Amino acid sequence: MKMWAGRFSRSAGLDPGFERWQRSLPFDRRLLGEELAASRAYAKALKGAGVLSAEELERILEGLGQIEKRAAREPAWLEDEQAEDIHHVVELRLVELVGEAGEKLHTGRSRNEQIATDLRLFTRQSLERVRARVAELIEAFLARAVELEGTAMPAYTHLQRAEPVLGAHWLLAYAEMFFRDAERLGDCRRRVDVLPLGSGAVAGAGYPLDREALARELGFERISANSLEATSDRDFELEFLQVLSFIALHLSRWGEEMAIFATSEFGFVRLPERFATGSSAMPQKKNPDALELLRGKAGRVVGATLAVTTLLKGLPLAYNKDLQEAQEPLFDAVETVEGSLRIATGFLRAVEFDSERMQAAARSGFLNATAAAGYLAGRGVAFRRAHAAVGQAVVHCLETGKELASLSLEELRRFSPEFQPDFYDSIGLEAVLARHDLPGGTAPARVEQALAEARKRLAALRETLSR
Ligand code: ARG
Repeated sequence: MKMWAGRFSRSAGLDPGFERWQRSLPFDRRLLGEELAASRAYAKALKGAGVLSAEELERILEGLGQIEKRAAREPAWLEDEQAEDIHHVVELRLVELVGEAGEKLHTGRSRNEQIATDLRLFTRQSLERVRARVAELIEAFLARAVELEGTAMPAYTHLQRAEPVLGAHWLLAYAEMFFRDAERLGDCRRRVDVLPLGSGAVAGAGYPLDREALARELGFERISANSLEATSDRDFELEFLQVLSFIALHLSRWGEEMAIFATSEFGFVRLPERFATGSSAMPQKKNPDALELLRGKAGRVVGATLAVTTLLKGLPLAYNKDLQEAQEPLFDAVETVEGSLRIATGFLRAVEFDSERMQAAARSGFLNATAAAGYLAGRGVAFRRAHAAVGQAVVHCLETGKELASLSLEELRRFSPEFQPDFYDSIGLEAVLARHDLPGGTAPARVEQALAEARKRLAALRETLSR
């Protein structure tokens, strides 16, 4: 029997196609844990408000406990054609188990606030799991950065060789992105941590429930301030999806760059066999499928975010059934991002860096041209002129197949009279790296400092995880 059958004539029944189409039980049954927790808390609040006797409360809690155990043992027990959603099936089973006391549990309560509460509980828990996974990924970046503290590599702009940086500096760039994502998750959590229960269907429950006690019972920081809003709000979910999109985007950027660096043209990284696949047709292939999927799955997460954004646009207050469509994108995005983070971390721990190739690449291709212009500027040449002089020297090198360091002083002086013998030392790889000696720069001492800072920030992040 439907929860709302009273108003409907007994003879007609629902169109079977419509009935199946509008049900959410096939996907919201994963909220069973949240539903039971919220129902326990709600039963206690009803007892507090004098609606349930101590004995009825006990029967209800006993029944909810049985539902939990039996559903764990026998998941099919919850597969009920009759039930619309998880809220309905839990009530049906509860009434079967404890009779009339179970029929009282819905007093003053609405599925509108139940789903809002379940989703906040689900989001909070998922958010904390994702935060822990992000911390693990950051740890892997820091661990690998230590290995590349003494390895230079080219940094690219426009995917063209730009200036040399330390390999550690490169890896720490990704750590920054994920530190920000962890921070975003923390911000988001403050707005997730709000209890809607007690809002009733739309106007607030018609019973004097102690909402603060309900919030404490369910571990929420605050209670919602407005019943209309609380029952129809999914901003907290959308915000979480937006953060998940950021994470997916960052993983995708990293995956893309790693796939480029794994080509034989670059050869900076060797794909770990445990995270690569072969080709059924081409015997020589080792493919970066893990990295490609990190890139591809980002589309899915952004799609989920867009689905929920579009769904919310134009919804009048308060609850509308459209909101049921906000569930599956959330479940899918959480699963996708958790999986991606797990794979990315495993991959990063296992990947091999070819430091020799990285370092060799950093020694050629005019990565020291900016430093060469800096050298002239240091000798009093206006930077714009210094830039032009080195630019001409580069053209000369390209024509003659040389690097700046292999030009003679005589050749160099054709472009500027200010070149002196100390020029050669100033454009050596070590000297070029050392020039970038300021916070955020790639001079070795700065990178070491940045790594130490990052370790402290990771420790601080870890501190907040256990809570
Ligand atoms: N399954 C519904 C959902 O997820 C629960 C709320 C239903 N409320 C209602 N008034 N029909 O949105």
